[in-house]
Amino acid sequence: MGKLALRLRGLLPRRRFSHGSGASIGGHVSFIAGPTRAGDRVVIFRDCELHGPITIGDEVFINRGAYIRRDVTIGDRVQIGPFARLVTDTHELGTSGRRAGAAAWHPITIGDGAWIGACAVVLPGVTVGRGAVVAAGAVVTKDVPPDTVVAGVPARAIRELDPE
Ligand SMILES: CC(C)(COP(=O)(O)OP(=O)(O)OC[C@H]1O[C@@H](n2cnc3c(N)ncnc32)[C@H](O)[C@@H]1OP(=O)(O)O)[C@@H](O)C(=O)NCCC(=O)NCCS
Repeated sequence: MGKLALRLRGLLPRRRFSHGSGASIGGHVSFIAGPTRAGDRVVIFRDCELHGPITIGDEVFINRGAYIRRDVTIGDRVQIGPFARLVTDTHELGTSGRRAGAAAWHPITIGDGAWIGACAVVLPGVTVGRGAVVAAGAVVTKDVPPDTVVAGVPARAIRELDPE
């Protein structure tokens, strides 16, 4: 591509959301910053905010009001409850005058088949294992093993599930 074409491309609005077949996107869903790429049959309910780059698998359901920051990877058949927050950004602890110091990002991965409950918060760098459940209102500070239910603040394992 020539220099002029590249420059012109830079002037066009970037395509912030792309998906496979059969997506259903509710009203007031914002795709901000980098691209969000989704697979087939993805449903995103109203009032969600997604800051790409984000990767979403097939048959994922994201309930209303979810807030998802950049560098999140969501597997296939994941369910995300209303008002859940997947937060990849944080700050190094600064001095007393400004405790929120230099910005840092740590990716989050949600494994295939997992369920993130309503109003749960998943913190930077966490991997939620395949088939795991994060209970409503949990704050997840550490990786969740596959097929495990975690609940509470901070989230702790409350049950192991049959991996089948
Ligand atoms: C986690 C959940 C699936 C239940 O899992 P479960 O293994 O069947 O858990 P139980 O109901 O048997 O409860 C087991 C223990 O965990 C506790 N618990 C259950 N859900 C909890 C929660 N969200 N936060 C904290 N503790 C919770 C129970 O009080 C119980 O404690 P106890 O043993 O001291 O009595 C359910 O409570 C939940 O959070 N569902 C999410 C609902 C939701 O987000 N809906 C939106 C639709 S997408």
